[in-house]
Amino acid sequence: MAVLVTGGAGFIGSHTVVELQNAGYEVVVVDNLSNSSPKSLERVQEITGKAVKFYEADILDADALATVFSENKIESVIHFAGLKAVGESVQKPWEYYHNNVTGSLVLFDVMKRYGVKNIIFSSSATVYGTPAEIPVTEKCPKGEITNPYGQTKSMLEQMLMDIQKADPQWNVILLRYFNPIGAHKSGKIGENPNGIPNNLMPYVTQVAVGKLKCLGVFGNDYDTPDGTGVRDYIHVVDLAIGHVKAIEKMKENPGLKIYNLGTGTGYSVLDIVKNFEQATGVEVPYEIKPRRAGDIATNYADASLAKEELGWTAERGIREMCEDAWRWQSNNPNGFEE
Ligand code: NAD
Ligand code: WQD
Repeated sequence: MAVLVTGGAGFIGSHTVVELQNAGYEVVVVDNLSNSSPKSLERVQEITGKAVKFYEADILDADALATVFSENKIESVIHFAGLKAVGESVQKPWEYYHNNVTGSLVLFDVMKRYGVKNIIFSSSATVYGTPAEIPVTEKCPKGEITNPYGQTKSMLEQMLMDIQKADPQWNVILLRYFNPIGAHKSGKIGENPNGIPNNLMPYVTQVAVGKLKCLGVFGNDYDTPDGTGVRDYIHVVDLAIGHVKAIEKMKENPGLKIYNLGTGTGYSVLDIVKNFEQATGVEVPYEIKPRRAGDIATNYADASLAKEELGWTAERGIREMCEDAWRWQSNNPNGFEE
């Protein structure tokens, strides 16, 4: 029996394939490579020594998915495939709703046809909007979401909850990620954004490697210890291991479960700059810029439910996240391009 990983060539997907293979699972990947390189899966194979069965296919293509399900014995699906750029989603809501929502519905339908009823879905702390309480527990109500990307996550959570209610044989685990950063220790795989990065850590590493001149810090007048935004950064390998734990949980037929995956600790933008400089010895010039629209002051998780029920906690600290992100970036200044 195999685990199907949609979006498995991407940042979090590729790290999850490594941890699944290391834990002895057979893995099948579907990805249309719209935001990734096939080289990431070659690198995964270098890391684990195991081949990855890969289908270059779009989740919108029901026939292609049917081929995957008929050629493999799929037990569970980990569903990463989707577009994820918050700002772009405001400009291109059509693409985001079609790709993320329609694409997922096609996937759920093909799963139903093939009797595969176990799914782990990549959700996001973004569904909490401006969180009603910090640290954020899973009981915290979903908040107002200000962009189509976040809306797709919230809608897909609801759709999966409704599917599970309609057919309780489905097991649905919604994982709400906080801010994944870092990279595999080998420096062979990591985050590879197209164009100028939107997220903090890839921006920092690209300044450090000399591709960008200066980090803009979006606001220093928030109600936080140093005035800059506070987030719960989590090492992507810890996040990947969280998915292996969720796959193990599937054996208990858990029904519907929702878990925050974060560390429970918040770091400010300036904490990240400082830790990065100390971990790598490379200076990161920055300047204070106006606040970015849609940003909140503080967001970090209460991750105790995942600890209690999945036996999972994030183990890698901020220094290690910075060191590993830097190893990846400095070894691969142009990502997977030669
Ligand atoms: P990523 O872009 O690196 O990976 C997504 C993968 O999905 C890419 O390889 C892309 O080519 C593929 N894909 C997109 N649309 C597809 C389609 N229609 N058919 C097949 N493949 C398709 O992103 P990531 O950072 O690895 O994120 C993975 C998942 O986790 C996404 O669903 C994202 O929304 C979610 N998430 C990410 C973060 C984050 O900060 N990185 C935080 C919370 C949630
Ligand atoms: C972190 C902090 C910025 C860039 C986003 C999505 C969220 C989730 C994770 C998918 C904030 C500051 C950033 C820069 C800066 N993704 N910053 N200069 O906004 O917490 O979350 O990614 O689900 O949905 O919204 O992450 O890395 O963009 O920002 O000062 O150049 O860094 O203001 O305080 P964010 P981020």
